[in-house]
Amino acid sequence: MAKNTTTTVDPVKHQCSFCKKTITIKDQYDMPIFDPQTGFAICNSCIREIYHFISEVDTKQKQTEKQNFSVELDEIIAHNKPHNIKEYLDEYIINQDKAKKILAVAVYNHYKRMRYGYNQDIDGVEIEKSNVIMLGPSGCGKTAMLLHLAKLLDIPFAVTDASSLTEAGFVGADVEVAVRNLYYAANKNIDKAEHGIIYLDEFDKIARKSGINNSITADPGHEGVQQALLKMLEGSVVEFTARGQRKHPEAPTIKVDTKNILFIVGGAFIGIDKTIAKRIQQTDTNIGFGAKVKSSANKPKYDELIHQVRPEDLMKYGIIPEILGRLPIICTLETLDEAALLRILTEPKNAPIKQYEKLLRMDNVELTFSEDALRAVAKKAIERKTGARSLKGIIEDVMLDIMFDIPKSNEHRRVVITADCINNHTAPQLTELSD
Ligand SMILES: Nc1ncnc2c1ncn2[C@@H]1O[C@H](COP(=O)(O)OP(=O)(O)OP(=O)(O)O)[C@@H](O)[C@H]1O
Ligand SMILES: [Mg+2]
Ligand SMILES: [Zn+2]
Repeated sequence: MAKNTTTTVDPVKHQCSFCKKTITIKDQYDMPIFDPQTGFAICNSCIREIYHFISEVDTKQKQTEKQNFSVELDEIIAHNKPHNIKEYLDEYIINQDKAKKILAVAVYNHYKRMRYGYNQDIDGVEIEKSNVIMLGPSGCGKTAMLLHLAKLLDIPFAVTDASSLTEAGFVGADVEVAVRNLYYAANKNIDKAEHGIIYLDEFDKIARKSGINNSITADPGHEGVQQALLKMLEGSVVEFTARGQRKHPEAPTIKVDTKNILFIVGGAFIGIDKTIAKRIQQTDTNIGFGAKVKSSANKPKYDELIHQVRPEDLMKYGIIPEILGRLPIICTLETLDEAALLRILTEPKNAPIKQYEKLLRMDNVELTFSEDALRAVAKKAIERKTGARSLKGIIEDVMLDIMFDIPKSNEHRRVVITADCINNHTAPQLTELSD
């Protein structure tokens, strides 16, 4: 089929292949589609009718899709009540009950917002988004919790490391990458991506240099990154190219509106406890009560302080106030004590000890950690001050030789790891078991 270019062949009459009307061609627009070889032709009014028909079908399809999704959402809401979400997180994450509750409620409310959005309840009450900022010490479960949450949810959820983001023009990823990750998490479904959740990990790493806690190393445009993130948080249409495609003016782009995307950001904000302490001391002295920063016996002082964090402390740290204004929910996590670390070793579904037991079982070996050994691991981890992060490394240290030697035989055996193995690197006892 070719566009009719018979303007010069004059006077021409053609018949529409559909409505059979004869049209006198005065210019090429009288019969926009005409194939001189087959004589196939469509008149203007038939094209209009077909177009009308197609758009009607499209709208209907979109409506059914929305209705289907709305039904799907009802089911999602029924199965993702806050307590359901928390129960799931409890299987993997020890303690941090408050953080789990905050996240569970935030996600549940996000679903509900979506539900009302789809139903277009126009009663004037708009449920606003409540983005969350999480802070807590290194290795206390921030990243782990969000990764598990991502697995549970039925909506796209993407985790992006904020420390990898740089202002446009610097070497590194532009902030659009966060939205692009979500788009891929949504299997390239723009509508779904527009209602997803973005978690920005290591958010403290984009604090402004003028913040008190930053060294004077090169700043890859952190203020610029924050400004760009602010636009995303406020809700804007983010444009990006497909993965693997270079950014150049002609590259086709994908557009995602961030208006309804829930943002969760998290970071350790190392040193912020000092800022908080200073503020509290100042206000207390002003009122004349003297320093009120008390430290109860079992909780580290850090935890007492961090729970009192306020936006102004984060501002001092180097986060611009406009961003903090868009992160109304502040969620603090606690330091993991020895008891918590002990539980982390054995209780979660994917607990490190369970993993090693499983590995050795494949070699016909029963692995046992004595109570003392577990306690020794927890104690060592506390010394290293990286929360639960170092647990695996400490065990790995003693397990390496065992995992190397054991497969030499297929005998049914038992290995007992004692505190001595952990503290003094003595070789663990290996006993043959008769079947
Ligand atoms: N509360 C917890 N319950 C169970 N496991 C935990 C918990 N906290 C940490 N872990 C384990 O320790 C590892 C490190 O924790 P995670 O990566 O979540 O730390 P983080 O809080 O993100 O710290 P950072 O600020 O340094 O990034 C995780 O892989 C997880 O297995
Ligand atoms: Mg982390
Ligand atoms: Zn026609």
